[in-house]
Amino acid sequence: MSIGLKLFQSLGIDTYQLRDKPKVLNQDHENDWASIESKVATCKKCSLHKGRNNTVFGDGNRSADWFFVGEAPGKDEDLQGKPFVGRAGRLLTEVIFSLGLTRDEVFIANILKCRPPDNRDPKPGEVDQCFSYLEKQIDMVQPKIIIAVGKIAAHSLLGSDLPMGKLRGKIHGFGSNEVPTLVIYHPAYLLRSPSQKHKVWEDLQLANDFLE
Ligand code: URA
Ligand code: SF4
Repeated sequence: MSIGLKLFQSLGIDTYQLRDKPKVLNQDHENDWASIESKVATCKKCSLHKGRNNTVFGDGNRSADWFFVGEAPGKDEDLQGKPFVGRAGRLLTEVIFSLGLTRDEVFIANILKCRPPDNRDPKPGEVDQCFSYLEKQIDMVQPKIIIAVGKIAAHSLLGSDLPMGKLRGKIHGFGSNEVPTLVIYHPAYLLRSPSQKHKVWEDLQLANDFLE
């Protein structure tokens, strides 16, 4: 049993397995994915392309109910071309397990597709240049809920600069379709402040209740 699930149980919180949602993937859809994937792979819209080993497009189920959005690739992600595969990524994987889901059943992407040098925060201009890729991904996946992982993702998606304490604990709407969006603490922060973990489990329970 995952740590997350154990924590939920120790808190006396029920966990739920989401039902599968039949979504039709037609040929146009496949072409759209291939087109945006190749655009990202060769993108030079911002200067981050110069330092990258790999772009990190995003990974997972293209008709997922849950769409996780992180900040930007770190060292491991840049080397492997996959999102959330380092230490913080392992904790995010635990968080996903705690929902009764695997990484293959959700979609995971980042605000930026290329690694900023020394893992510095993304610059607003970089976010502006990269954002349309993420928007298109969200449009195509049509998730039931977006999970903004950490402050940078939350601020970029919600156009807000409120502190995390004010953004978490409620369901926001992303974009003109008002896609339900929940903000959680970044696993890199939880690694530094493990005593805050319970807040993530509580927030995800809110998402679960919302989807029920
Ligand atoms: N942190 C993020 O925000 N995204 C990743 O992909 C890895 C670490
Ligand atoms: Fe293009 Fe985004 Fe990479 Fe910048 S971070 S080069 S906009 S893919």
